[in-house]
Amino acid sequence: MTIRTALVSDATDIAALTTQLGYAADAVIVAGRLAKLSGLLDHMVLVAVLEEKVAGWLHAHASEALESGFRAEIVGLVVSEGHRRRGVGRVLVQHAEQWARDIGAEAIVVRSNTKRVESHSFYPAISYSLSKTQAVYRKLLKKALTTPLPTPTDGTSATCEPGAPGISTYQKMDATFTEDLSTIDWVRLAKIFELAPLGVRDPVKLRETFTNSSVRCFAWHEGELIGAGRAITDGIAYAAIFDVVLLPEWQGKGIGRQMMTFLAERSKAGNITLHSVPGKEEFYRKLGYCRMKTAMGRFANPERQRLLGYIE
Ligand SMILES: CC(C)(COP(=O)(O)OP(=O)(O)OC[C@H]1O[C@@H](n2cnc3c(N)ncnc32)[C@H](O)[C@@H]1OP(=O)(O)O)[C@@H](O)C(=O)NCCC(=O)NCCS
Repeated sequence: MTIRTALVSDATDIAALTTQLGYAADAVIVAGRLAKLSGLLDHMVLVAVLEEKVAGWLHAHASEALESGFRAEIVGLVVSEGHRRRGVGRVLVQHAEQWARDIGAEAIVVRSNTKRVESHSFYPAISYSLSKTQAVYRKLLKKALTTPLPTPTDGTSATCEPGAPGISTYQKMDATFTEDLSTIDWVRLAKIFELAPLGVRDPVKLRETFTNSSVRCFAWHEGELIGAGRAITDGIAYAAIFDVVLLPEWQGKGIGRQMMTFLAERSKAGNITLHSVPGKEEFYRKLGYCRMKTAMGRFANPERQRLLGYIE
């Protein structure tokens, strides 16, 4: 068994296990939470991997309380039904205890619903003693993000064959292109960004930005998502293309070019702008994009843009 820090790409497995527990869990939302938690030193999310499958997960959080001092809490723990009673829960908890010790926690606690019968055998068996029973009160402060993906209004699908009308000649390859959002595994798309490599993306934000962009292109090979891109447009004069990404093994095969054509045609705008990743300018130049002499941009994080080579 391997115990390791959970990755955003584990979200689908974690969501599936959470659903076994009776909580509806959307992989995209779980992925967003994992992305948020990943940099936080007071949180730890672990997965147990058995036979190359995620067999369990644990989330622990450490905090300082006036009343009880600095302590860690196991805020989530699930072992898959098929892997219970094989020591997975015990090992996950042991790792959480070690982490809690390492960061100086005085104690580790866990609250478990009285209806979770197994857990009330499990914790005493691994040396946890019942300290109190309590009632938990809750008040919703805002509506939870709805789990179903928005239904696309223009869920058309198109296949770009080499030589198809309106599309210039391409090298031969077996990619198809769609606009439909409902079939997208956003965790997988985040992984594609990571591998491309275009950095770490939060799948929840990816879903939002693609949903809010009226033009998008998803590239597929034999039913597997291999790339994507999106554009915003006024439909007449101006459009801007963003987030054109392809798995490394599919780069250099003419698919990026097809995605760009797909996006440009559907933007229906005479003028299209974009900013290239430093070093990829030639790709866009070959498609007719020119360096803009007076391009100006205002960025949320100019330091980062500077560091990445996007601005002076
Ligand atoms: C509780 C849970 C995490 C335990 O995980 P697990 O991997 O099955 O537990 P382990 O195999 O490490 O068990 C360690 C010891 O706990 C005890 N134990 C665990 N489950 C038990 C059960 N259902 N009945 C009796 N004893 C049990 C045993 O002593 C066991 O050792 P043994 O198998 O050598 O007898 C798992 O049952 C689970 O995911 N349940 C649903 C979710 C849940 O209740 N989570 C806890 C929320 S706080």
